[in-house]
Amino acid sequence: MQGINKQGTTSSGNMDAFWMPFTANSQFKSAPRMLVSAEGMYYTSEDKRKILDGTAGLWCCNAGHGRHEISEAVASQIHNLDFAPTFQMGHPLPFEFAESLSEIAPSGLNRVFFTNSGSESVDTALKIALAYQRCIGQGTRTRLIGRERGYHGVGFGGISVGGIVNNRKTFGSLLTGVDHLPHTLSIENSGFSKGLPDYDPGWAESLNNIVTLHDASNIAAVIVEPIAGSTGVILPPKGYLKRLREICTQHGILLIFDEVITGFGRIGSPFAAQEFDVKPDIITTAKGLTNGAIPMGAVFVSDEIYQAMVAPDSQAIELFHGYTYSGHPVAAAAGLATLDIYRNENLYTRAAELSDYWEQAVHSLKGLPHVKDLRNYGLIAGIELEGIAGKPGSRAFQVFTKCFEKGALIRVTGDIIALSPPLIIEKQHIDDLFTLIADVLQNIDYKE
Ligand SMILES: Cc1ncc(COP(=O)(O)O)c(C=O)c1O
Repeated sequence: MQGINKQGTTSSGNMDAFWMPFTANSQFKSAPRMLVSAEGMYYTSEDKRKILDGTAGLWCCNAGHGRHEISEAVASQIHNLDFAPTFQMGHPLPFEFAESLSEIAPSGLNRVFFTNSGSESVDTALKIALAYQRCIGQGTRTRLIGRERGYHGVGFGGISVGGIVNNRKTFGSLLTGVDHLPHTLSIENSGFSKGLPDYDPGWAESLNNIVTLHDASNIAAVIVEPIAGSTGVILPPKGYLKRLREICTQHGILLIFDEVITGFGRIGSPFAAQEFDVKPDIITTAKGLTNGAIPMGAVFVSDEIYQAMVAPDSQAIELFHGYTYSGHPVAAAAGLATLDIYRNENLYTRAAELSDYWEQAVHSLKGLPHVKDLRNYGLIAGIELEGIAGKPGSRAFQVFTKCFEKGALIRVTGDIIALSPPLIIEKQHIDDLFTLIADVLQNIDYKE
């Protein structure tokens, strides 16, 4: 087991070489927060403290940590077949996994394209949407529509339709032909609402404005997260997603749900599409797909799209797209074992069972210092804090580091805390998590 010495270096060498993602590298390396093992609801830190996982890693480990069913499936698969290509070749695992996935997917979304991450799932979905429109004789439909504050990973497609300024501003002109819907957060009108907010000034109607501006014949697809997570938990108002669906259908625009965080039981149904009773044409997933154990993503595509693009009697390659590791045998084995756990332990619906208790715990923070808004759905919470003038994000970052010191892993984005614990969480863990966060909020006082 590796350790950290006083200079912030691991026992295997110093920390310079690893350029950490989405991290203040110098700051982290001067005061590292290192996790070395995990079991159930807890990580163990390098200094041997138990850290309650309030974030399922990074919205990944829905079945909790250290699941032997998964590690054993991985070990046995890697011994049996470590890798085999899926370009003009095949092996049984991705077929079996896709079949199992199609059984839990919203009906009709029964074709599965494998990737290695959420970002790749998003770019794959956007490419399929464009290719499909062209295939059905709608080749002028090239525009893609995302949403302000949306997060769709870090590929060029994903950051183009995404709406988070820091993820976009340093990367050039991005994809052309992209528009953005307004985001759906209004703290003034729906602050501290429980579950989905009622307030909606007609946000979905702005899709009609974009259609009026460009004409539907130029628009391929709309992509939204049913619940936005990375931007700080933004909920759709009641009826909003259904209205988006109606407008898309009316104009022949494909609707893509990015379910990288809402998929696999996070909000009380296998997918948000089922929870909100709205059927998109394409769903992107990753993270919970393998419980985070092996990188993998999956794009669920409607039968209609697949049938239109894949002619039964054609000898040609239909989609010039794919990754060396699309349908990797070891990842698929991890995924199959993960689905067994989700099914056997009723984890697809556990968030619904716990959501009232969770909601009460979230809203118990109302009135504590710095708390500006509280939002929740399923086993997701957003705790928005009053920022410090001129220092965006510093209040929440201080809460984050204090929580880690006191024994809980939370996630912060800007001045918003986003919580998404493993779905195996028990009421006692919920109590512990919110007691700890409340204690930190009561005692922090930002200093330079
Ligand atoms: C909604 C959404 N889409 C895409 C992604 C990107 O996934 P990845 O980091 O696996 O590329 C994320 C990651 O948090 C996400 O939340």
